[in-house]
Amino acid sequence: MKLLVRIVIAFIALVIVIGAVVAVMSNQRLNRTYDIPTSVLALTSPIPSNGATIARGHHLAVIAGCTDCHAKDLGGKVFLDVPPFLLVAPNLTRGAGGAGASFTDADFVRAIRHGVGPDGRAFLIMPANDFNYLSDADLAAIIAYVKSVPPVERQLPAKSIRPLGRVLLVLNQLPPPPAAVIDHAAAHQANAPVGATVEYGHYLANFTGCTDCHRADLTGGPIPGLPPSAPPAQNITPAGIGTWTDVDFYRALRVGKRPDGSTINTLMPWPDFSQMTDAEIGALLRFVRSVPPKR
Ligand code: HEC
Ligand code: HEC
Repeated sequence: MKLLVRIVIAFIALVIVIGAVVAVMSNQRLNRTYDIPTSVLALTSPIPSNGATIARGHHLAVIAGCTDCHAKDLGGKVFLDVPPFLLVAPNLTRGAGGAGASFTDADFVRAIRHGVGPDGRAFLIMPANDFNYLSDADLAAIIAYVKSVPPVERQLPAKSIRPLGRVLLVLNQLPPPPAAVIDHAAAHQANAPVGATVEYGHYLANFTGCTDCHRADLTGGPIPGLPPSAPPAQNITPAGIGTWTDVDFYRALRVGKRPDGSTINTLMPWPDFSQMTDAEIGALLRFVRSVPPKR
């Protein structure tokens, strides 16, 4: 009996010690700060506020997924509520508690292009590594749009990394935050290379995330951080979809259907891509066809 009591006490003590170690180590990682120099946060010109720029910003925000994660009105929403974490895409408007109420233009640049908050902490999940490819003019248009939307008041819970999430974090089972993989000193182009060209397709593929989920060479594979049950991103090099016609490619992005009629899982954000213009999808197609066929 005495032995059993001792074993139970030793076990409880062990659990408390492991819990404390996980708490300290996970806090260390979550609280790591990134210092983004102010020189890097400046754009080539001030944020415009004319209607045409705001309309372009809105379009870009839709195809980049801002309005998907942060809600159509940018008032924010619970983005993921699973056992390891509760993740919230915050309110971006000028409403109470929204980013727009307190963010300077530099704060927006730091958040969107670098994945870092005003307090220096790295954002989780938000694909700033993709948005880092945005030209100065396109980023300015997105910020102009965000600043223009009507204020929204919405009660949102605080994000929480639960015990299971902290264990996964400490065991290196979660992908690093985007801020950890971004080259914060990289130079940026002033304007997007708009045109019916491979180059423009590559630009679009970078900031909308094709080259992130399907990888830089478009060969696809499992998406880091998702459970094994999630469908892998497919091979979209000519070795994967080389037999597709132009129409097949447009249909995949516009209505999420493959040539055989099956539906593409919405883990692939085609409902956002469905809002792309013909010219944008055409440029993407040129890029996708230009990469080496690879298995
Ligand atoms: C995949 C979902 C997702 C997409 C797409 C996304 N965000 Fe976010 N965003 C988040 C999450 C989640 C956070 C909070 C991260 C955290 O607190 O760790 C965030 C944080 C932010 C913040 C900081 C807000 C604050 O109050 O700290 C801004 C600004 C922002 N996003 C703007 C944008 C813009 C603009 C776009 C489109 C170019 C965008 N986001 C696309 C999920 C997303
Ligand atoms: C968030 C991750 C993600 C992003 C971003 C993404 N994809 Fe996908 N994509 C996927 C996944 C996952 C699948 C497989 C879905 C399934 O199995 O139903 C897929 C499937 C596809 C398919 C169907 C391939 C086939 O053989 O059936 C095409 C085409 C495609 N993606 C093109 C693109 C293009 C072009 C972009 C950028 C504009 C893009 N994807 C961006 C994750 C993504």
